[in-house]
Amino acid sequence: MKIFYFTATGNSLYVAKRIGGELYSIPQMLKKGKSKFEDEAIGLVFPCYAFGLPRIVIDFLQKSKLKAKYFFAIMTYGNMAASGLRHLEEVGSKAGIQFNYTNEVLMIDNYLPLFKIEDQLKKESSKKIEEKLDQIVSDISNRQKKLTRKGFASDVFSKPIYNLNSKFQYDTGDKRLIVQDNCNSCKICEKVCPRNNIKLERKPEFLHKCEGCYACIHHCPQNAIHLKFERSKARFINQNVKLKEIIDSNNQGIS
Ligand SMILES: Cc1cc2nc3c(=O)[nH]c(=O)nc-3n(C[C@H](O)[C@H](O)[C@H](O)COP(=O)(O)O)c2cc1C
Repeated sequence: MKIFYFTATGNSLYVAKRIGGELYSIPQMLKKGKSKFEDEAIGLVFPCYAFGLPRIVIDFLQKSKLKAKYFFAIMTYGNMAASGLRHLEEVGSKAGIQFNYTNEVLMIDNYLPLFKIEDQLKKESSKKIEEKLDQIVSDISNRQKKLTRKGFASDVFSKPIYNLNSKFQYDTGDKRLIVQDNCNSCKICEKVCPRNNIKLERKPEFLHKCEGCYACIHHCPQNAIHLKFERSKARFINQNVKLKEIIDSNNQGIS
């Protein structure tokens, strides 16, 4: 079984690790130009972005040739995934993939414009993450066939929100980032960026091909990178994932 994952703050990587199998980072596969994969089962794990797919996951699906008897996908989210998995079905279908199993896991929301990480952490136990993961792991090992769908109304409101958000989030979305003077040029931001969007001489310079994932903000050891509008200064990394694993997943070759 092969699992392709994308993660900014570790939730999706943790889920991928819990499911097991051979793990492949989507940013790394795109960077290496590796696109042909075959296995009995192939899965994707990624975060929900604005009721849809991160652009990097769409890029991967469009560029890859995946062959399997059983396709599954797990979307991690923080509050409301709406029809994000419907979006996946649509993108998958255009890439010649029919998913057999899709599901979603409610985890800590890392979306800083709307949520305070402190509040999210207080709610973590009520999200029943481990119970949900036990169910998903069992479903996938039994090769269950079941698609998570939300109904017509959800499909209708999810699309315009996704499209509107995409105009602001990607590429020049990095113009909303502020770097404070306590930056000590450690280059962690460069290393966790899945798009190679950061160049650092003394302070990070953003190159306007941003994924909008906030990995640079959450992992800055100095808490020196901020959004112009953020609910709090607290930052997040999934407790079961180490910074080195995020760097190994997203680093675009910076040593
Ligand atoms: C740009 C962006 C958009 C997001 N949009 C949503 C959303 O529409 N619904 C939701 O429930 N969570 C949303 N989130 C929260 C993430 O989906 C959630 O925290 C996810 O588990 C993060 O996964 P990761 O740790 O693997 O990066 C968003 C996060 C970001 C950074």
